[in-house]
Amino acid sequence: MAQEGTGARLAVDRAADGVFLGWCSLTEWNPDHRSASLGYCFDDAAWGHGYATEAARAVLRWAFDTLDLNRVQAETDTRNLASARVLEKLGFVREGTLREDCVVHGEVSDSWVYGLIRREWQPSSEPVPAG
Ligand SMILES: CC(C)(COP(=O)(O)OP(=O)(O)OC[C@H]1O[C@@H](n2cnc3c(N)ncnc32)[C@H](O)[C@@H]1OP(=O)(O)O)[C@@H](O)C(=O)NCCC(=O)NCCS
Repeated sequence: MAQEGTGARLAVDRAADGVFLGWCSLTEWNPDHRSASLGYCFDDAAWGHGYATEAARAVLRWAFDTLDLNRVQAETDTRNLASARVLEKLGFVREGTLREDCVVHGEVSDSWVYGLIRREWQPSSEPVPAG
């Protein structure tokens, strides 16, 4: 991604002790359309502390403030309610369903498509960072 200039995947460490928690990415960057896709994955031991939301919010700040994007898209398996909740906390709007978009462990599932438009982005809603 770095060589192609299409995005970046960032390691997320806990500020308090430097423990690696997971990653957050911005991919499929299209400078002409000023758009990109958001992704993330965290160690299950780190779930439920707001880390994904905090990390994704930092990446979105970079996307909108530094890269000057107009739209960030994200997709999530419809069974992944925690991921959908992360996106909704960040202000993403659910825009549609991709039918039978993914096969996980042999099971076919749909994906939801979410979008966040620059004018809807509210960095001021940022919570106090998790420890
Ligand atoms: C999805 C994932 C990133 C969430 O990480 P996290 O650090 O636990 O997320 P946060 O703590 O920031 O927020 C999770 C939210 O989902 C909610 N949640 C968790 N499980 C839930 C469930 N089964 N149903 C509904 N909401 C749920 C939490 O309560 C929290 O919302 P709240 O702040 O309103 O209470 C993490 O579970 C993960 O990495 N999963 C595996 C990879 C993955 O699914 N990546 C996304 C692919 S699209």
